[in-house]
Amino acid sequence: MLPSIDLTDPGVLADPFAAHGRARELSPVVTLDAPGMPPMWTVTRHAEGRAALADARLEMRPASFAMRPDVPEHCRPYMRSMQEVEGEEHARLRRAVAPAFTRGAAEDFRERAARLAGELLDGLSGETDLLAAFARPLPSDVIAELVGVPATDRPQWREWGAAVSIGHGPAFAAAIPGIVDAARRAVHHEGVLTALAHSGLDGTELAALVWQLLLGGQTPTNLIANAVRVLLTTPGAWETLRDDESLLPGAVEELTRWCGPQLMTFPRFAREDVEVGGVTIPAGSMVTVSIAAANRDPRVFAEPERLDLRRESCPHLGYAHGPHFCLGAPLARVQTEEALRALLRRFPKTRAADTPAHWLPDPGTLRLAALPVVLG
Ligand code: HEM
Repeated sequence: MLPSIDLTDPGVLADPFAAHGRARELSPVVTLDAPGMPPMWTVTRHAEGRAALADARLEMRPASFAMRPDVPEHCRPYMRSMQEVEGEEHARLRRAVAPAFTRGAAEDFRERAARLAGELLDGLSGETDLLAAFARPLPSDVIAELVGVPATDRPQWREWGAAVSIGHGPAFAAAIPGIVDAARRAVHHEGVLTALAHSGLDGTELAALVWQLLLGGQTPTNLIANAVRVLLTTPGAWETLRDDESLLPGAVEELTRWCGPQLMTFPRFAREDVEVGGVTIPAGSMVTVSIAAANRDPRVFAEPERLDLRRESCPHLGYAHGPHFCLGAPLARVQTEEALRALLRRFPKTRAADTPAHWLPDPGTLRLAALPVVLG
């Protein structure tokens, strides 16, 4: 019998890296037991995880938000995400949008990301919840700017961003019709969609892209908040980065390895029997890759349990791998660097508040409920 990770165990939720890491050292494939779900096969090691994410026999299926009973009928066509499709359809969608999400495009956006981060810090001082005041609104503002949403609609986008960032629940469902209508209008704004006017995507597909960008585009919230928490609670880390900004790009990669928000990939389904690391995963099974385990695999990372802001090579799986590799990774990197740079420059003497920030017991996402700090 394979070892398992028991997601009903509060100890597992309190320290996912320890639990996933123990499983990794027992077997390259384990099972994950979660309430109300069939056991999920989980790849724990880096090499096997990377191979699994590029294996066409493990396929995404419609997940899907659009199939939820509380989603109004007229919204459904606009919620079909590229994450749920495979093969030629996926390749066509990805090819069409790729030019707008290159490293060059993200670099062109750097100044605007820095400005948005700076604007959010204006007026903040003293004891502050940086999650609510900074890390949460910034990714919504970035997506709004990218899509060309008028400034007057920004507060509404922030509200939607906060509602969808958890990925489920009544607030999520309630936000859907408004987002879909705004996405349909956004197709006519100046922004990334203008660049995609000749991409061959039709109006519904472009609106569906806006939906995905708003949804996927919230993830930097948790990377930024997690990174600030870790920098402020690891002795010397904040000062190291503050005193040498040239470390920022590498440090952001290391922080993504160390405290990146996605603990696991979306589940895939085995189209046939698939052997991973000597274990046969039967056809029809649900399969995930434990990003938490792979990113601390000692077979790939020297001293994996040490946060090393000067780590030279950091091939983490924080943005996954293969055909579904995060579309927004270059933008997420630029945005996180500029968020941290703005904070380190503007408030160089910031410290964690006396009330500590705890990880929430969320099996899929490493995230905080609040990030109380004293800005200085
Ligand atoms: C720190 C920030 C981010 C992290 C950690 C992250 C992580 C991920 C991961 C792990 C996947 C692949 C999931 C899988 O294969 O199971 C993914 C896919 C995706 N991400 Fe991100 N993401 C981030 C930011 C963003 C941003 C800013 C955007 C949009 C601008 C975005 C848009 C997407 C899209 C559209 C996909 C689906 C790609 C496809 O299926 O081909 N992400 N992301």
